[in-house]
Amino acid sequence: MRDFIGGLPKCELHLHIEGTLEPELKFALAERNGIELPYASVEEMRATYRFDSLASFLTVYYDGMRVLLHEPDFYDLAMAYLRKAASQNVRYVEMFFDPQAHTGRGVPFDVVVRGLTRAIGDARRELGIRAQLIMCFLRDFQAEYAMATLVQSLAYREWIVGIGLDSDERGNPPAKFAAVYARARAEGYRLTMHCDVDQENSVEHIRQAIEDIGVDRIDHGSNALEDPKLVAAIKERGLGLTVCPVSNSFVVDGIKGAEIRRMLDEGILVTINSDDPAYMDAYVQENLERTQADLGLTEAEVARFEYNAFAIAWLPEDVKDAYI
Ligand code: ADE
Ligand code: ZN
Repeated sequence: MRDFIGGLPKCELHLHIEGTLEPELKFALAERNGIELPYASVEEMRATYRFDSLASFLTVYYDGMRVLLHEPDFYDLAMAYLRKAASQNVRYVEMFFDPQAHTGRGVPFDVVVRGLTRAIGDARRELGIRAQLIMCFLRDFQAEYAMATLVQSLAYREWIVGIGLDSDERGNPPAKFAAVYARARAEGYRLTMHCDVDQENSVEHIRQAIEDIGVDRIDHGSNALEDPKLVAAIKERGLGLTVCPVSNSFVVDGIKGAEIRRMLDEGILVTINSDDPAYMDAYVQENLERTQADLGLTEAEVARFEYNAFAIAWLPEDVKDAYI
């Protein structure tokens, strides 16, 4: 089964590029940028990667970004991830990035996007892997700040395929960003957002995302199964759910295997993704292996995840035909 999964052409749709910062690269960038880290070794740093909730994960995640300052830092980050992804036979990635987590530290938007897109271009030429960017807004900041970031992004429109919403969901419902999403749609961006697993008001957040905002897909979203009306809407509209099993096992109890099984049985366009693989120690191959083992899936069922992913990917249909 490991070889079968290894051989599958894969598509990753839920991947935070800042969550691919491995401890070794974090050390190297800290040294290059003259930043002192409070750890003596990679092992010591890894030992601080302890979290049991979204909030405790985010503290570690944002702290790690301090080493990302200049264009080559973002290039090296994305190139390292794309090399790893290509080695797992990932053919196409839609990569989240969090511009506000950088501009808020004084790193220009332009530096972030130039570094990431230079890596995307080189990886396409050198490794044959294709990638696009999804710009996420931090939902624990004001909607006006997200709107200003959206306007700033328009100069880079050709590089960014869509928008997302991430960070701390508590008290930050989709409705808070309705105007931002309306403007993004008008500008031609595709729309997704996180509805993290087992949050306060998860079902209501998913309802808002689907009915009030009109998203094209949902990141995580497994609590939708609690409401038959949402299940019906997801199926009717062909909305994809980008599920992250190993990430789930860090922030809630287990990978949410029963929910993944039910999504497959319902014919929902569920996909398997890695979220923040450097912090969760599992890229897409390991996420697929874990899901297959826990649920006892057949090869055809595992292949369904990748078929679904290419089906909901934000690529022109004629380009997708080459993958499916
Ligand atoms: N930022 C990075 N990973 C995230 C996740 N899984 N949920 C919300 N925000 C995030
Ligand atoms: Zn995520």
